[in-house]
Amino acid sequence: MTVGARMRSDAQPGHLPVLFAQVMDALQVKADGIYLDGTFGRGGHARGVLEQLGPGGRLLLMDKDPEAIAYAHAMFDGDARVSVQRGSFAELAQWDATAGGLDGVLLDLGVSSPQLDVAERGFSFGKDGPLDMRMDPESGQSAAQWLARADEGEIADVLFNYGQERMSRRIARTIVARRAETPLTRTAQLAELIASVMPRARPGTDKSRIHPATRSFQAIRIHINRELADLETGLDAALARLKVGGRLAVISFHSLEDRIVKRFIAGHAKAPAGNRRLPVAQDFIPALKIVGEALRAGPEETAANPRARSAVLRVAEKLEQKPGPGTRDPGPGKSRSRFLAGPQPSCSCRDRVPGPGSRVPAFHPRVPAFERGAA
Ligand SMILES: C[S@@+](CC[C@H](N)C(=O)[O-])C[C@H]1O[C@@H](n2cnc3c(N)ncnc32)[C@H](O)[C@@H]1O
Repeated sequence: MTVGARMRSDAQPGHLPVLFAQVMDALQVKADGIYLDGTFGRGGHARGVLEQLGPGGRLLLMDKDPEAIAYAHAMFDGDARVSVQRGSFAELAQWDATAGGLDGVLLDLGVSSPQLDVAERGFSFGKDGPLDMRMDPESGQSAAQWLARADEGEIADVLFNYGQERMSRRIARTIVARRAETPLTRTAQLAELIASVMPRARPGTDKSRIHPATRSFQAIRIHINRELADLETGLDAALARLKVGGRLAVISFHSLEDRIVKRFIAGHAKAPAGNRRLPVAQDFIPALKIVGEALRAGPEETAANPRARSAVLRVAEKLEQKPGPGTRDPGPGKSRSRFLAGPQPSCSCRDRVPGPGSRVPAFHPRVPAFERGAA
């Protein structure tokens, strides 16, 4: 039995960290290492890392959600090895505690079970609550505030780009018409409005089992929390802070996230393919090594935890970058692998994260299982 599998059984009862054994194996925790969990949640993975650290090790914990942070303080304030910081992992490099370098970074993306389960957080179309959806309810605008102000085109673009919602324009039009009569302030109100404009799915089909508001709720949540932009910045920051030999482990829950992670790792691990119309990329030096295949939960885990069905874990290891003669230094915090290869975005233009105002229809149309489970 692996270390991970052994400790999985000791995790907090009722809380099921996804792909726990695989994450522990991926991080290869060293007793005196420094690890950052950028998505603390309820600490399922963090606890596993801490149990492997000796007195000289350190565990740095981040989360945007003040409730998660309060939980982290309650659990670990007596432990001198642990430091807690409220904020986005996109800002991990600005946290002084990371300045000495990290032996491992874990990002377990998306929302936590407590966020989905508490109606007051406003994430779930299946539980009536205030239409909020912010991971940090004290910062930025709530879903209700955004839906009250955004114009029809922006709403349609968000639903389409972040939810792959084909009825995005029709839903946006109805939202704008409805809000002129009554403000949209409750999750149930929005879920009913969306259901009322969607064509009825044939009974017994996959579509009929998915709530019609699933895609729209996912899209609005991603937009309100700037999830994809944070992920792109956070990956860059993690790479900048990882020590040579340090491990990056990222669990994503839908194709938009996974595409960013996959392309980020590949963009730093493999020389870009030649394009005969562009000058030949010179001196590519990989900054990352891909560790294994993308991992998914097995049948036992998905039976116990339906949320694990759509989880994908990708792992990479930071490599030493030895510049060749005559190559320029990219500057502090910059990765040499992309610098030397010229301006190679980790996504091609077609796949780059779209923002409001842009329509990029090439996304994988599958609805993540955990979003279905959110009902
Ligand atoms: C899937 S849960 C993590 C569960 C955790 N691994 C555990 O075992 O309990 C995701 C958590 O990440 C947080 N989160 C999501 N995006 C974040 C970001 N950009 N920065 C910091 N925290 C974030 C959410 O608030 C949520 O608590």
